[in-house]
Amino acid sequence: MKLYHALAALITAWCAVFGCIQAVTLEVKEGNSTCIKAELSASFAITYNTSSSTRTVQVSLPDSATVDTGSSSCGTDGSSPWLVAVFGPGHALALSFSTNGSLYGVANLTLQYNLSDASIFPEANSSDVVTLVSSSVGIWATINTTYRCVSSATFGVGGATVTFSDMRLEAYMTGNDLSPTESVCMADQASTTAPSTTASTTTTAAPAPTPPGTPEQGTYSVKNRNGTVCLLAQMGLQFNVSYFSLSQNKTVQELVNLTPNLTSSSGSCEASSATLVLTEERTTTLNFTFTLNSTSNKYHLSGITLLANWPEMTAPFSASNTSLDYLRSTLGHSYMCNAEQTLVVVPAFSLNTFRLQVQPFEVTTNQFATAEECQMDQDQMLIPIIVGAALAGLVLIVLIAYLIGRKRSHAGYQTI
Ligand SMILES: *[C@@H]1O[C@H](CO)[C@@H](O)[C@H](O)[C@H]1NC(C)=O
Ligand SMILES: *[C@@H]1O[C@H](CO)[C@@H](O)[C@H](O)[C@H]1NC(C)=O
Ligand SMILES: *[C@@H]1O[C@H](CO)[C@@H](O)[C@H](O)[C@H]1NC(C)=O
Ligand SMILES: *[C@@H]1O[C@H](CO)[C@@H](O)[C@H](O)[C@H]1NC(C)=O
Ligand SMILES: *[C@@H]1O[C@H](CO)[C@@H](O)[C@H](O)[C@H]1NC(C)=O
Ligand SMILES: *[C@@H]1O[C@H](CO)[C@@H](O)[C@H](O)[C@H]1NC(C)=O
Ligand SMILES: *[C@@H]1O[C@H](CO)[C@@H](O)[C@H](O)[C@H]1NC(C)=O
Ligand SMILES: *[C@@H]1O[C@H](CO)[C@@H](O)[C@H](O)[C@H]1NC(C)=O
Ligand SMILES: *[C@@H]1O[C@H](CO)[C@@H](O)[C@H](O)[C@H]1NC(C)=O
Ligand SMILES: *[C@@H]1O[C@H](CO)[C@@H](O)[C@H](O)[C@H]1NC(C)=O
Ligand SMILES: *[C@@H]1O[C@H](CO)[C@@H](O)[C@H](O)[C@H]1NC(C)=O
Ligand SMILES: *[C@@H]1O[C@H](CO)[C@@H](O)[C@H](O)[C@H]1NC(C)=O
Repeated sequence: MKLYHALAALITAWCAVFGCIQAVTLEVKEGNSTCIKAELSASFAITYNTSSSTRTVQVSLPDSATVDTGSSSCGTDGSSPWLVAVFGPGHALALSFSTNGSLYGVANLTLQYNLSDASIFPEANSSDVVTLVSSSVGIWATINTTYRCVSSATFGVGGATVTFSDMRLEAYMTGNDLSPTESVCMADQASTTAPSTTASTTTTAAPAPTPPGTPEQGTYSVKNRNGTVCLLAQMGLQFNVSYFSLSQNKTVQELVNLTPNLTSSSGSCEASSATLVLTEERTTTLNFTFTLNSTSNKYHLSGITLLANWPEMTAPFSASNTSLDYLRSTLGHSYMCNAEQTLVVVPAFSLNTFRLQVQPFEVTTNQFATAEECQMDQDQMLIPIIVGAALAGLVLIVLIAYLIGRKRSHAGYQTI
């Protein structure tokens, strides 16, 4: 028994230091038939406050995690199928699923943690049970197939991140085991077709970062449930992020452009808030939240969240600010700014926008409404007007001087 405990402690210590992640198998059943099955490894990066500082801990889903049969469900009563895995004193990871008949996917991802657990959150100054939900998880597969993603994929859930790897899961199952037919995630498809590029990036030293230039303008849209476009955006985006670089062994300041043709957009539109989620090849997820004030009929960009897992990073970078006030405009109009704008999100991350036009509310017939332009554009439009006016003034002065001069010399002739 002592040996067992020593071994367990050793394994726990090993895992704490080297971040080893265990694979867990979870099943939701109704009667004798299985409706959801998942084999996965998961780890979480959670930030919490102590009385004097803010800390981030890395927690992995232990293999002792079990399905909470009370709250999990197959969704036969009309609700969404729900897989709830519980571990430790009041921690949980939950996946809810939805389908449209031909595809199924993770509709939302919930992470719950109990800050009273001092073994994971030492010195936390709160004892709350925190529940975070994300509804923008790009896990989709064809129905009657198993979703497979061996590569790791990181999702932002509130201020925390959830990283899955070695994942195989199926919902809306018809058999009792995972279907042999697989829907392979994009990251796995990329890593099997291009193993040489990953090898070369790890062996060659990181080149000195060169300024990436002006980013390309991308066009993004969000559709609502009935398929009509409810949010439109056109912009070039550049990240200005400082993070700790593995190869350079120091904190670096890097400018990275978002590549529109590698970026997909999703999101949601509600009556008084709209969300645009841009995902670049699973390594970058950028989330914009727009808020409408229905009394003043003004909207603004109120939140930006960035999740980045770039090759040079020691840990996934996540930054979020939900009390921003940018891109302010009036309902029924779009917001436009051709000039470069810098949106500061947190000290370590700001977003530079170029040739931007957005409309998060009241989009009709797939088109932008009349634009309200930012002050910088208006100022830039003023420059030619001011220059023109100054030139016209100068011409006028010269003309008057000439006329006066002519009149004087004329008068001079007359007196003689
Ligand atoms: C479940 O399986 C057991 C044994 O295989 C069987 O006795 C039982 O009737 C089954 N229950 C249902 C609801 O099918
Ligand atoms: C930590 O405390 C700060 C300041 O009160 C607060 O803004 C922040 O939300 C807290 N963070 C967490 C993770 O609770
Ligand atoms: C926890 O600490 C943060 C600063 O780190 C402070 O702002 C916050 O008020 C504290 N919360 C509690 C419940 O004491
Ligand atoms: C997430 O899904 C569960 C199960 O379908 C549902 O009860 C919950 O309301 C959903 N949460 C959000 C924020 O969509
Ligand atoms: C949170 O953890 C504390 C201490 O481990 C425990 O007493 C409490 O019951 C837990 N809360 C929940 C909701 O499980
Ligand atoms: C389900 O959604 C996918 C992607 O949005 C779409 O291609 C497909 O046609 C939809 N199927 C049905 C039956 O609505
Ligand atoms: C999935 O499989 C079940 C049983 O094998 C079948 O009845 C159903 O039509 C299949 N669905 C699709 C979309 O192929
Ligand atoms: C689609 O939904 C929006 C609100 O969600 C509504 O205003 C619009 O009329 C709907 N369009 C159709 C074609 O049903
Ligand atoms: C990037 O951010 C740093 C620190 O906030 C700032 O000094 C620098 O000027 C920014 N660079 C660009 C091109 O925005
Ligand atoms: C990284 O830098 C620190 C101090 O700057 C140094 O002590 C450490 O040895 C370096 N590590 C590596 C792997 O170069
Ligand atoms: C993306 O666009 C760039 C330049 O426009 C092009 O070189 C590249 O091949 C494109 N990539 C894809 C995947 O379409
Ligand atoms: C909405 O606008 C009104 C009028 O400008 C203002 O008084 C109110 O505080 C605003 N509401 C919110 C939630 O910002």
